[in-house]
Amino acid sequence: MPADVFTAPLKKPEHLGDDWLEPQQATYDRDQDAIWDDLFSRQMDVLPGLAASAFMQGTEKLDLGKGGVPDFGRISEELDGLTGWSVVPVPMLIPDHVFFWHLANRRFPAGNFIRTRETFDYIQEPDVFHDVFGHVPMLTDPTYADYMQEYGKAGWKAMRYNRLKALGALYWYTVEFGLMVEGDEIRAYGAGILSGPTEAVFSVRAESPNRIMLNVDRVMRTDYVISDLQPTYFVIESFEDLYRQTVERDFDRLYRNLSPAFTYANSAVIDVDNVLHRGTQEYLLRGGRGSGAKAV
Ligand SMILES: [Fe+2]
Repeated sequence: MPADVFTAPLKKPEHLGDDWLEPQQATYDRDQDAIWDDLFSRQMDVLPGLAASAFMQGTEKLDLGKGGVPDFGRISEELDGLTGWSVVPVPMLIPDHVFFWHLANRRFPAGNFIRTRETFDYIQEPDVFHDVFGHVPMLTDPTYADYMQEYGKAGWKAMRYNRLKALGALYWYTVEFGLMVEGDEIRAYGAGILSGPTEAVFSVRAESPNRIMLNVDRVMRTDYVISDLQPTYFVIESFEDLYRQTVERDFDRLYRNLSPAFTYANSAVIDVDNVLHRGTQEYLLRGGRGSGAKAV
């Protein structure tokens, strides 16, 4: 890595090498396997009709409801045959440059640990359920899999221009909270939406949030919230469209023109937007999470 590239100062546990990979996946006891099973069945009750077909098919192809936390070796073998990706265990959030390097090499770093019963509904740091259930099924889709690799490559460039925040917004509004058009419906493909019970309904059906067609330049200038439901979701036409918008974009020029801070508030609707649904922002106006406002 070039010396002038800025990276977040996370402290690496001593037993890990520069790739931050655990030597092997954790072993899980019976209670922990049961937590996976309960989370899995809760999501499967909610997601049909809300999750993208690619996601639903991915969970089946990888047999994620087989019982207990899936073995990374087994799902990596399946994935390798489908799109050439693998899933590798990491202890926690890892530095951006390491994360990008893994993605650029078609490896998805997944949290090794699983949440507890006490944190069943919401955890701040991504665990194995968020990472494997939320993200990995999408990697069975060939075009989406290519997009993730391109994203990893784009990360290196963003670090050189010191524009990681902008690239982070693109990840946030696609990989974590992305919606897509399927026929005449809207479906969710973002892992942040699909790994929890509330946001799947809120993002696709609720009156409160905006739903706006994705434009890469616009999204990279838009602020986002990390600890509550999103005031705005961006919608793609297809994974081909997302891939094309990302690959064809001249990121050098874009990064040079971006201001260091975000230009648009996360609830803003602007002139150039192709708006599918203009949200009432009722949830936000009532005070969001913590105020007791009902999401849906
Ligand atoms: Fe995630």
